[in-house]
Amino acid sequence: MRFIHLTDPHLTVPPHGRTLASRSHYGKRYLGYASWANKRRHTLRRVWLDELLQEVNGLAADQLLISGDLTQIGLEEEIVQARQWLEALAPPDRITFVPGNHDNFAGESWDLVRREWSEFLHLESRQQHPVTRHFGDVTVLGLNSAVPTRPLSACGLLGAGQLERLSLALERHRDTFKILLLHHPPLPGMIGFRKRLRDAAALAGVLTEQPVDLVLHGHRHRNLSADTPAAGPRIFCTGPASSKDASFRVFDVAREGAGWRVEATLRQRTADGFQVSEAERWMVSAPD
Ligand SMILES: [Fe+2]
Ligand SMILES: [Fe+2]
Repeated sequence: MRFIHLTDPHLTVPPHGRTLASRSHYGKRYLGYASWANKRRHTLRRVWLDELLQEVNGLAADQLLISGDLTQIGLEEEIVQARQWLEALAPPDRITFVPGNHDNFAGESWDLVRREWSEFLHLESRQQHPVTRHFGDVTVLGLNSAVPTRPLSACGLLGAGQLERLSLALERHRDTFKILLLHHPPLPGMIGFRKRLRDAAALAGVLTEQPVDLVLHGHRHRNLSADTPAAGPRIFCTGPASSKDASFRVFDVAREGAGWRVEATLRQRTADGFQVSEAERWMVSAPD
């Protein structure tokens, strides 16, 4: 079973800053717009994202795992643009998507995300995360850490209800290989105060009781795999899918003996095409 993880494409073009005054949460949106106009529009580009998707399309993934931040300031125009991008990318059953802080940015963003991206969120009628999807004996659990915040904050929050539902889902699917997908770094101390997951300690507590096998996240805009604690699951952060060194990761998970064999590679854009990292390989034992 092949999974490809990509994140943080920030692919949308927001309406011009001069037109934002009539929108809700003007202060936060204007700061977000300025950050896009002055920096992100130059460092994250659609042309680099298109090159990455060409590469992704050649790798026949069973499932694309996307951990949020499709938009800049969560306006309706952007959420519609992002839906069109998702529709062109792959059919909904080949995509598992969780939102980022730029998607659930402010005010009405979440209602619009649920309306426009419903097929890709896989929430069905319950409308509550985590989303649980099954691919053979692999379970993907998608968390929603994106909540509207005060200006200049990019924190995330899962909430007690979602953590309880996660714990129950992990117990129910304990015999499978479990992949956790979320936008924010999952554990305390993995990112600065202003961008952290506020209930990371509570999530760590759930994962101690009900372990997962692989955690994939974004938000840091860097390729990282060194944060993994010795006894915990492998944790990978992938850099933006639309930067000059646009990145994605490929995970092949196969049943072997009483567990699973995992092979992971990082693919990164260079001026000479996509560079493939040396493969990391490890075994995961099935629970007793
Ligand atoms: Fe981001
Ligand atoms: Fe983010």
